[in-house]
Amino acid sequence: MGSQGTIPPPIHVFMVSFPGQGHVNPLLRLGKLVAAKGILVTFSTTESHGAQMKKANKNISDEPTPYGSGMIRFQFFDDAWDYSKPEGTDLGLYMQHLESVGTERLNQLIEENEKQGHPVSCLINNPFIPWVSDVAETLGIPSAVLWVQSAASFSCYYHYLLKLVAFPTESNPELEVQLPAMPLLKHDEIPNFLHPFSSSRYIMLKEAILGQFKKLSSPFCILMDTFQELELELVEQLSKICPIKTVGPLFKHPKLVSPNGSSDDFRGDLFTADSGVIQWLDSKPMSSVVYISFGSIVTLKQEQVDEMAYGLLNSGLNFLWVMKEPYTGTGYLPVKLPDGFLDKAGDKAKIVQWCPQEQVLAHPSLACFLTHCGWNSTMESLAIGTPIIAFPQWGDQVLDAKYLVDVFKVGIRMCRGEDENRIIPREEVENCVREATSGAKAAEMKENTLKWKKAAEDAVAEGGSSQKNLQAFIDDIITTCT
Ligand code: UDX
Repeated sequence: MGSQGTIPPPIHVFMVSFPGQGHVNPLLRLGKLVAAKGILVTFSTTESHGAQMKKANKNISDEPTPYGSGMIRFQFFDDAWDYSKPEGTDLGLYMQHLESVGTERLNQLIEENEKQGHPVSCLINNPFIPWVSDVAETLGIPSAVLWVQSAASFSCYYHYLLKLVAFPTESNPELEVQLPAMPLLKHDEIPNFLHPFSSSRYIMLKEAILGQFKKLSSPFCILMDTFQELELELVEQLSKICPIKTVGPLFKHPKLVSPNGSSDDFRGDLFTADSGVIQWLDSKPMSSVVYISFGSIVTLKQEQVDEMAYGLLNSGLNFLWVMKEPYTGTGYLPVKLPDGFLDKAGDKAKIVQWCPQEQVLAHPSLACFLTHCGWNSTMESLAIGTPIIAFPQWGDQVLDAKYLVDVFKVGIRMCRGEDENRIIPREEVENCVREATSGAKAAEMKENTLKWKKAAEDAVAEGGSSQKNLQAFIDDIITTCT
């Protein structure tokens, strides 16, 4: 698929992603949409993640490859980090290291591109790496940010940093938070990094995410992977204070979706998907499967895995469970199913390391999605029309769960926010599965998911809010960069 001999387009958008699946996916989806409009897009992240992407997807190439009327290619940089050394899993140290090494490497890459005749016209990054905005500013290159969480989460961080609204404090830890155009949030419904008693291991993530908000004057545009109709009043309110544009659900734009619901050409998976999943789903009756996944980072405690396994089994439904090895550097321990469990479950259970999630969610055999409520999973299930069992762990997940259950009304809650000692017993797991898949509540949730599915499709269709915003953004790049 390489393109030797083809001349790359003159406008060159260089994208830098934080090395994490929840960041790579939306940025790469945006990259493909920008490339499709006649632009050269270079997608960059760390070499170790790049190697994983290449392993999981043969199309990931260093060569500029035609995509729509533009081109896409990948350039990874060595973050010079040894994950096997004792401090290799210290996220705080890694973030500091990434900033200094990443700044240097990015400058080098931009210079090399200039020498090779592909000067960078625009830089786009996602959260946790705000130093990309600094590089852009120093070099006088226009930059934009893709916010990969909800507008509601953006609003929380924004109002917290600027101290515009009262948040819980050590002396008042249960304070409820009222942000403009948002429902009243309980103390455990705000992104947990902002809570005074949040675990100390989240401090660096909090600093990194707030870092982006200290640089909000640098980017000419803040793109959001949400859609206007989903967070309507809030989007209107935020538009008055920041140059935001809603362009989501990115994965749903017609250019990216193939008839089976996947977008296989340049997927950003860091892990290889199990090849038998769709066949297994094909063998199951309609609405009979619970899909369980906690995204790319979260791993449950062993005791919780045991309870969840028996709760699922006792519900009588089929279940497809993504149980991957813990992500390097997170400190989570490997888990396994209880001894003899798979024999008891037989063909009712399918356990995989990774799957093509959008295709799974769109499969007719799916009944509901038990999720940690990462924003990508949230958008994917809303836009595909899958009811939710919310099992949030930390960060924005607790806020997403609040919206899924109380605002979008497509989910039920299995647990609330961060609580390191909480274990949900098997009876409760079973009850949640039953409630989400049969009876009045399940029917109401399904009806609401179909409403959001239609709204998401309209947003990305020709003339829809996200489609128009994306086109306006691309027009802005073209006028700013030529
Ligand atoms: C992280 C944070 O945890 C989350 O809170 C934040 O909103 C985004 O960044 P992550 O935990 O990985 O993300 O979850 P999520 O946002 O749901 O992203 C996971 C992505 O991996 C989704 O796009 C999902 O489709 C994909 N996935 C997951 C697969 O393709 N296959 C799988 O088996 C599991």
